Amino acid sequence: MTRSQPAAPHQRIVVALDVPTLEEARSLAAQLTGAVGWFKVGLELFAAHGPAAVEAIAAHGPVFLDVKLHDIPTTVERAAARIAGLGVGLVTVHAQGGAAMVEAAVRGLDDAGEVLAVTVLTSTSDEELAAMGVAPAGTQVPRLAQLATGAGAPGLVCAPRDLTAVRDAVGPDVRLVTPGVRPAGAGTDDHARAATPAEAVAAGADLLVVGRPITRADDPRAAAEAITASLAAPA
Ligand code: C5P
Repeated sequence: MTRSQPAAPHQRIVVALDVPTLEEARSLAAQLTGAVGWFKVGLELFAAHGPAAVEAIAAHGPVFLDVKLHDIPTTVERAAARIAGLGVGLVTVHAQGGAAMVEAAVRGLDDAGEVLAVTVLTSTSDEELAAMGVAPAGTQVPRLAQLATGAGAPGLVCAPRDLTAVRDAVGPDVRLVTPGVRPAGAGTDDHARAATPAEAVAAGADLLVVGRPITRADDPRAAAEAITASLAAPA
């Protein structure tokens, strides 16, 4: 299997619709139609509006449902099958759920979309991992990346700083999706180590999750187009 490469630079952009109301999400999606590759619907919007949020956003482009499933395999498989029915193209699961759970998610989603596995949340410190009896992130991230892809996950979510190690661990055919991306010159918000879009792609990212630099811009479409231009420009 060879991962599908975005045909055009704008298709690498996943805009995180982290807004509380469906109206705001719909308005952003309408403004960004054709200027980004994916719309990420996260827990906030899904908790508030459920499948209606996916349906409303899917009218404007492909939907990435970021719900990070983590449960017993049967429950995850059944949830993934319902998600497949919503017309979602990408859905996240926790690799920490284990190989059988990741396999179940892939089975449940079937051909409707791709499972993306999250390894270690970047909010979890090595101290917290140690308290749970887990190896430091430098060991655990590549280990879980291999476990998840070995279980059939075609893609992974990883922080910019982990891209190189994860790419080395899983090879060229896995889709890598990275948040914590900030255009050159922009603030980093709460990301301790942000990468620019071009840096993230150079480090092996296929898709770039960008939220506030687009959603809070005065002109979201212009902000997305500026990121696309920075990807298209020679490094
Ligand atoms: O607004 P911003 O670009 O920081 O949004 C980033 C998105 O990526 C948010 O939806 C956030 O939950 C998600 N994310 C992240 N850092 C991680 C994992 C996910 O920022 N390590």
